[in-house]
Amino acid sequence: MSETLYIQHFNEQARPLSYYLEKMAGYSALKKALGMSADDIITEVKKSNLRGRGGAGFPTGMKWGFIPKQSSKPKYVVCNADESEPGTFKDRDLMRYTPHLLIEGMLIAGHAIGSSIGYIYIRGEYTREAKLLNAAIEEAYKAGYLGKNILGSGFNFDLTVHRGAGAYICGEETGLLNSLEGRRGEPRVKPPFPAQAGAFGGPTVVNNVETLTNIPFILNNGGDWFAKLGKLEKSGGTRLISISGHVKKPGVYEIAAGSMTIRQIIDQLGGGILGDKKLKAVIPGGSSAPVLTADEIDVVYDIEPLMKIGTMMGSAAMMVVSEDYCVVRLIQRITKFYEHESCGQCTPCREGCKWMEDVIHRILEGHGREQDLNLLLNIADNISGKTLCALGDAAAGPVTSFVKKFRADFEAYIRSGKNAQVHH
Ligand SMILES: Cc1cc2nc3c(=O)[nH]c(=O)nc-3n(C[C@H](O)[C@H](O)[C@H](O)COP(=O)(O)O)c2cc1C
Repeated sequence: MSETLYIQHFNEQARPLSYYLEKMAGYSALKKALGMSADDIITEVKKSNLRGRGGAGFPTGMKWGFIPKQSSKPKYVVCNADESEPGTFKDRDLMRYTPHLLIEGMLIAGHAIGSSIGYIYIRGEYTREAKLLNAAIEEAYKAGYLGKNILGSGFNFDLTVHRGAGAYICGEETGLLNSLEGRRGEPRVKPPFPAQAGAFGGPTVVNNVETLTNIPFILNNGGDWFAKLGKLEKSGGTRLISISGHVKKPGVYEIAAGSMTIRQIIDQLGGGILGDKKLKAVIPGGSSAPVLTADEIDVVYDIEPLMKIGTMMGSAAMMVVSEDYCVVRLIQRITKFYEHESCGQCTPCREGCKWMEDVIHRILEGHGREQDLNLLLNIADNISGKTLCALGDAAAGPVTSFVKKFRADFEAYIRSGKNAQVHH
């Protein structure tokens, strides 16, 4: 079997149930799972070394194992389809082209944790994908893959698409759950974690779209097979990478986990730098990931190697920046995003993001002061790790890395004012 799972099914057209059944062995993994015990499914997922594709890379089998077997309240499977990390657009393709794969993955998750209710919380802007998912869900109900007594097994599962309203914070799993319940999308204090008290107070698994679409492959081919697709010890399967920015061929690509370096991905998949310019910087894992310089890209693109050099794989969204683009402007834009999206509950994040944005803005406007760079590092340090959720870290890490790695570019503005030549 090839080392890609999805990409051959991505196409200009949405894929109906008939395609899924004929070309993708559709719902065969569910049939298999229905004949297995919950513990055996979880063991298989643990063996697969599947790690969450939403950003944190948490082992999926372990997460499912945290759900209590007995519960006085209903248990829930929630799919995080908020996909709001800037630079990330892989879940969109999965929902557009392989919606039944997601439904099947959620059904298997439901059977494994003893849940009969699922929600797909989808980013509000994804109107087309919400419609496609609803159409696929309708097909699945009609064909007996959803609803009561699925395939005569006695297992029941209902699935609902819930549309968000355009807030990044609703991608954070507890902000998402509050929003799903009709409350403000503010992250909750943890513990309790969703596995104990999640949606409507019941034990809940929250998984990213891509995490869940991996599940049918794992059930059909075995956890060991999936683990071996990955080239490094701890990460199984393949990775969908969203490549954007200054490359010749931006788009969604799939590689066996850990099989390529960042340089190879940019050159071989992205087609090289736009206009054959020099590379200036790479943001390797969505806008929250600390930036890398052109000298740091011979690193294997996987969770551990990136952590070792002080950044992260996050949602596997690679943003490529050529020598023509001003990195000070780039970090200002990123910081403005976090300032706008901070929910405001935690003072360090609410005040700090605005403060960092103000300081970068004044540097760009030519009013920067020598001490502003240390001030930026100081504010970032006072946000990092001091907030309820990771939005604070997501805002602080990039600022720290840009100031440390591109200090000369900031200094050029401070020295020469607004029209500083910092692009080269
Ligand atoms: C501010 C913030 C935004 C997030 N946005 C998303 C998102 O859009 N999609 C997503 O899958 N995970 C997002 N996450 C990660 C989720 O909190 C959570 O880790 C994820 O849903 C877990 O699923 P996984 O284990 O399958 O990766 C976000 C986290 C934070 C802190």
